[in-house]
Amino acid sequence: MSDVVSPFDLSGKAALVTGGGRGLGRAMAVGFAQAGADVIVVARREDDLAETVRLVNAAGREAHAVAGDVTDPAVAPHAVEACVREFGRIDILVNNAGLLTVGPIEETPAEDWLKVLDVNLMGTYRFCAAVAKAFKQQGSGKVVNIASVLGTFGVGDATAYCTAKAGVMGFTRSLAVEWAPHGIGVNAIAPGLFDTDMSAGVIANQDAYTMIMAGIPRGRHGRPEDLVGTAVYLASAASDHVIGQVVHVDGGATIA
Ligand SMILES: NC(=O)c1ccc[n+]([C@@H]2O[C@H](COP(=O)([O-])OP(=O)(O)OC[C@H]3O[C@@H](n4cnc5c(N)ncnc54)[C@H](OP(=O)(O)O)[C@@H]3O)[C@@H](O)[C@H]2O)c1
Repeated sequence: MSDVVSPFDLSGKAALVTGGGRGLGRAMAVGFAQAGADVIVVARREDDLAETVRLVNAAGREAHAVAGDVTDPAVAPHAVEACVREFGRIDILVNNAGLLTVGPIEETPAEDWLKVLDVNLMGTYRFCAAVAKAFKQQGSGKVVNIASVLGTFGVGDATAYCTAKAGVMGFTRSLAVEWAPHGIGVNAIAPGLFDTDMSAGVIANQDAYTMIMAGIPRGRHGRPEDLVGTAVYLASAASDHVIGQVVHVDGGATIA
């Protein structure tokens, strides 16, 4: 047997995934487990979290659920503490919890608009701030922020979401510069259309779906497992010299 360790190997690592209850977060949590990591998952619905924990266990790794809302400032420090308490370390942070709302700007109350920023952007800030001390002390760490192709190009009726995801991209580049000298890698993934609860309405809308499909060179929407390889790459030593990048995983939607 070869004793060469794959640069994508996550054995002995501990990962924290926000929004890990279902959809893309669950797929990444299970993918990290398959690559060797133990996992903490954060979301509000405990039944969803329990199912992700079960799937991680089935992949042979340990997992724990932290039920909480990423807009609650107490949740991020609590989740990071849980990771260090349970696994003795934290190596990977994935800021994936997200909220999409749609509607014309004049019909969107300011509090609804701010809520989208609070979950997608402030949530990312809160968890990065919470993990800073541990990552800097150990001189290593990986942050993977989940943005969106809607942070790169615009669609109507989604000003809050497009703003939040473009913000996640800028945040990623700034923190990447700040933390690179500490041995910490910060990058982002911008998914295109993926089949999850969040996108169910779009996929069910024949006209919208046909229009989106026409702009995807690969000819199909993403399945949650399509995101896993990129997430493992950005969470592993394989990406150590990749700093502040936004990797579009979108079947080619942003290059066509
Ligand atoms: N699906 C797509 O086509 C697509 C495309 C581009 C980008 N994205 C991004 O990918 C990420 C994952 O999306 P998804 O499609 O997997 O969505 P999803 O199926 O709706 O899952 C979202 C996850 O985030 C959690 N969450 C939402 N608000 C939260 C909050 N305030 N506090 C804690 N957890 C919260 C949800 O759990 P609870 O409800 O139990 O809290 C759930 O586990 C999001 O950032 C999204 O913007 C998705």
